[in-house]
Amino acid sequence: MFEQESPKTILFVDDEESILEIATEHFQDLGYRVLTAGNGREAIRIIENSDNVIDCCFTDINMPEMDGLELAEYLRNHDNAIPVVIMTGYPSLDNTLHTLKNGVVDFLVKPVNLEQMTLCLQRILRERELFIKNILLYKELESQKKIEALNRELIYKVDELRVLNRIMSELMSLNTGSEVMRHIVEMATAITPADSAVFYAVSNSLHEPFALTRANREAPPENPANAESAERPDTIPAGLSALIKDIALDETPLIIADTSSHALAHHARSLMGVPLKIRDTVFGVLIAAKTKKNLRFNEKDLYYLSFMVQQAAYLVENLALYENIYENLFATLSALVKAVEARDAYTKEHSNRVKDTAILIAKEYGCSKEEIDVLDFAGRLHDIGKIGIRDDILLKPGRLTDAEYEKIKEHPLIGESIIGQLGLWEREKKIVRHHHEWMDGSGYPDHLKGEDIPLLARILSVADAYDAMMSNRAYRKEMPKTEVLKIMSDGRGIQFDPQIVDIFLTLQSDDRVG
Ligand SMILES: [Fe+2]
Repeated sequence: MFEQESPKTILFVDDEESILEIATEHFQDLGYRVLTAGNGREAIRIIENSDNVIDCCFTDINMPEMDGLELAEYLRNHDNAIPVVIMTGYPSLDNTLHTLKNGVVDFLVKPVNLEQMTLCLQRILRERELFIKNILLYKELESQKKIEALNRELIYKVDELRVLNRIMSELMSLNTGSEVMRHIVEMATAITPADSAVFYAVSNSLHEPFALTRANREAPPENPANAESAERPDTIPAGLSALIKDIALDETPLIIADTSSHALAHHARSLMGVPLKIRDTVFGVLIAAKTKKNLRFNEKDLYYLSFMVQQAAYLVENLALYENIYENLFATLSALVKAVEARDAYTKEHSNRVKDTAILIAKEYGCSKEEIDVLDFAGRLHDIGKIGIRDDILLKPGRLTDAEYEKIKEHPLIGESIIGQLGLWEREKKIVRHHHEWMDGSGYPDHLKGEDIPLLARILSVADAYDAMMSNRAYRKEMPKTEVLKIMSDGRGIQFDPQIVDIFLTLQSDDRVG
């Protein structure tokens, strides 16, 4: 330490001048700076002069004005760290205890010899040096701890920024709504310790939340088709379904760090759920689950997940609003259609064929390019509402009961509500709603008659009925083509618009429809 290089300063306090003189001469010879005082009060004046840094103070006890014990006490009370050595000719146990209590570091008995004083001084200065070093070391250690804490905070912040950046840059590379839906589940297992993540579509018209995309930490889906494959609605545990509905209703992210006292304990050990909201409507809920023992989600995980879902929602909205509005959200809805078709093998590709036939009829009828586009979209989505129909009804082999048939008849309304959720596609919604109306008013859901049924719905209805009869259905085998065409023809003016069914039959006889 640098203190070693500058001379140490010693203060001698004694009312006997001869002692002061001898000590001064002796210690100056040894290289010390020596100050002297005749009593306690004088000593305090010297000590309190900021020019003097006193390294050690030797004091007599019995002195006029202020004695050595009072001086020691004063220094102690004023938080002065100067080591004090008491010298007295009348040592008593009382004095000794008193002085030691007052922070006096040593006690010399008069007559004190110079050798003894020197050794005592050297020891005190050595201890003092160690003491100062300790303080410095301690301070260094403290500041090191502070630096470490700051570093930890910095690493945490850098880590956080890294995750947020990753979310932003991954999302920005996506171009369609369905890509976003597929990516958010994969990202959920990458940015949080989730073992699995599932995005559930929710809607007032769906009885149960519907698993749209999913990802597992262990085995990420190689094939995007797998990611989109649908979980059958009846496989969602009741507790989870209720939780998803609650989150959608509250529109607030939720964390259940420990599910052990929760009904969902068998499903996961720790759970998070975040609603995805587009245009003030909750479109779905992302559920992240941890299944491993002793692992729990924390608030940071929920923060990352919420941030990602929120950014994904902005992105879906922006893609829909500013880019190709149809394709992007359509892709998302197509995933739903695929999900319906995945459940029901009989309707597989049904929607696409119906759309193709309907477009052929529409072109022949003389529909505009815009009308064809509307039909293209509505045709593909016309049965999307079947998502909301329970498997035991939708897939029932054999005849449906009246009650079951009433349920099936809800699908145009459910479909309209799903498409309508984003406040877009007014014309498409109408077609989906009315594709089962009959010309004579006996169809559903609104019993519209004749030209009250939108033209494009009348066209779709012809294409839909033909394809349905030509396909294997859950409740019957496909019918012979001649029989189907006869039913179509007989349906003129009853089920079908005569002009449209005639166009269709002409296309048939020209072999232009499959
Ligand atoms: Fe339908």
